[in-house]
Amino acid sequence: MQSNIVVPHTVAIQSHHKDGFALSIAECGGEFNFLAKRQYVLSSSDAPVERGSHAHKELWQFMVCLGGEVDLKFEGLGGEFRFTLVPGKEGVLVPPGYWRDISLKPDSVLSVLASELYDEGDYIRDYGQFKEWLAAKGQINSVPFVALDRCHETLKADLSKIFDATVASNELVLGKACREFELRFADFCETEFAIGCGNGLDALTLALRAAGIGENDEVIVPANSFIATALAVSSVGAKPVFVDCLEGTYSIDIGGIESNITPKTRAIIVVHLYGIPADMDPIVALANKHGLFVLEDAAQAHGATYKGKKIGSLGHAAAFSFYPTKNLGALGDGGAVTTDDPVLAERIRKLCNYGSTVKYQHELQGVNSRLDSLQANVLSYKLSLLPDWNERRRQIAAKYHESLGECSDYLDLPQVTKAGEAVWHLFPVLLKGIARQSVIDALAELQVSTGIHYPYTIDKTEAYDSPVSVPVAEKVAEGGISLPMDPYLTDGEIDYVCSALKSVLEQLVGD
Ligand SMILES: Cc1ncc(COP(=O)(O)O)c(C=O)c1O
Repeated sequence: MQSNIVVPHTVAIQSHHKDGFALSIAECGGEFNFLAKRQYVLSSSDAPVERGSHAHKELWQFMVCLGGEVDLKFEGLGGEFRFTLVPGKEGVLVPPGYWRDISLKPDSVLSVLASELYDEGDYIRDYGQFKEWLAAKGQINSVPFVALDRCHETLKADLSKIFDATVASNELVLGKACREFELRFADFCETEFAIGCGNGLDALTLALRAAGIGENDEVIVPANSFIATALAVSSVGAKPVFVDCLEGTYSIDIGGIESNITPKTRAIIVVHLYGIPADMDPIVALANKHGLFVLEDAAQAHGATYKGKKIGSLGHAAAFSFYPTKNLGALGDGGAVTTDDPVLAERIRKLCNYGSTVKYQHELQGVNSRLDSLQANVLSYKLSLLPDWNERRRQIAAKYHESLGECSDYLDLPQVTKAGEAVWHLFPVLLKGIARQSVIDALAELQVSTGIHYPYTIDKTEAYDSPVSVPVAEKVAEGGISLPMDPYLTDGEIDYVCSALKSVLEQLVGD
């Protein structure tokens, strides 16, 4: 996947052949992503015919050859594409914005399905005008922080089918869809078990509760994380002990863990923040030495690896969030715990469903935190796309590293832990000696959206108000800016962000 631009491409159509008879079926919303409002047929008699020579601004089309042979040539935002269609095998899906030349050989028949009724205003019939229209369209003048709308626009037909199938299944909470997703997700994370639940905070909380952590216990957490990491500890009645992070990877500092272990310490939560895997081996060794429970907060790291092993399989348990903008996101809230421990898995399965796995037999005082079937089905489907999305995130991160490397006087770029492979949920840069707000404002002027992850270390939030000395984490909280990161952003958009940031830095440093 290179970008969000959907380009003309062939789509296989189902064909059944028997005794010289062929039945070929293309379903609207199946083989192609729109409901056809219009069909027309182009045919040639005994001489070749050239047609086309126009583009559409909004119209989608699906072209199928019914006889003879048809050569198609398209030119548009995504480049130039050529196809030769023959009957019964495949069609071509043509997005809006493509100039087309259609060559019908003698006795050829081309059927075209269109997403809208005839509208002369949608046509561009002059090639010069088309090139001008294309240049204006292709010009990047704003970049969103995330592009969930593009993802869902691309997947719309499949998501609608999933919605319909879920409604028809009549099994809307837990059930087969959840079991299936849990099996797939456990397989993906290389763990024995995955247990779905309501959200990432619940996943953390359920894992801590199942491990028996509660009143009078201390849990070591990084000060630089989303507040959920600490809230889970507080919600089981234990005390979060905040520790600083390392420069570059922003993962929890093992020296800080060691110096904060007390007789009350029961667990360590390791956050793979921004999708960068933490250096797990020394942490697990230290935890083993002191008999501590290791919980990975993998809410931002679906699919990341450390020494070739999947994040989520490296501690006693791991908590995932499927909040919509996460690398693997549902169409609402969702979460899961992964573990190899059957006892822990069973306890979590009970705890998240009123302390019960058999109806009305409540063995524990549990909660209601269940994954619903719609989210489970969406997640199963999106899981198959996650490796490509993560690869695209890595491409974008590599582009940022390559382009922004020259700004090292003013910016620190994020680093990946040795033997780790990141999945770049976020791409934070750390400003050096330049006021953050001025950079954010100047980028906003250039229509580049940014984020801050996170503006306060957790110990200094109003909710905790128990400041500790975490100088590296504080530096990140004061000077970190997250740049646009999403698998559906184009190379052109990332180039635009890089040149915008460079020009902003030049201007601010010169001021
Ligand atoms: C590091 C981290 N932990 C936990 C969570 C909590 O996940 P949820 O929003 O699904 O409760 C998040 C979500 O943003 C997160 O980023």
